[in-house]
Amino acid sequence: MYVVVCRGPNCRARGALPLRHRLVKLLKHDPEVRLLGYSCFGQCDYGPNVAFYPPGEWYGGLAERDDAERVVRHARTGETLGPQLCLPDGERELHLRNIADLVRTHERDRARRPHRHWWWPF
Ligand code: FES
Repeated sequence: MYVVVCRGPNCRARGALPLRHRLVKLLKHDPEVRLLGYSCFGQCDYGPNVAFYPPGEWYGGLAERDDAERVVRHARTGETLGPQLCLPDGERELHLRNIADLVRTHERDRARRPHRHWWWPF
């Protein structure tokens, strides 16, 4: 499972940076859940935004103090995170293709450097 966190300026302005830092701490030694950064999902008004891949689910507004823990529980157990963001079909498919490319690159890099657990810079 990949947790793909928006690194874009609008999500950052809405609190994505503390979320990303907390996720790094929580997932640093988790071999099953991996972090990736992403430029922008085009859902800037709803940030901070996170996608789960697979299956390809988006959630927004993750700026509360315990949201990193909720994100991790969702990734590990499927515990609900609330309503999903609804991306337009064309955009959703585009982002899923981009994420799949990032995952392939990450997996190739991880095979070379197995001790690295997230895409750098995250
Ligand atoms: S800046 Fe995060 S979705 Fe655009």
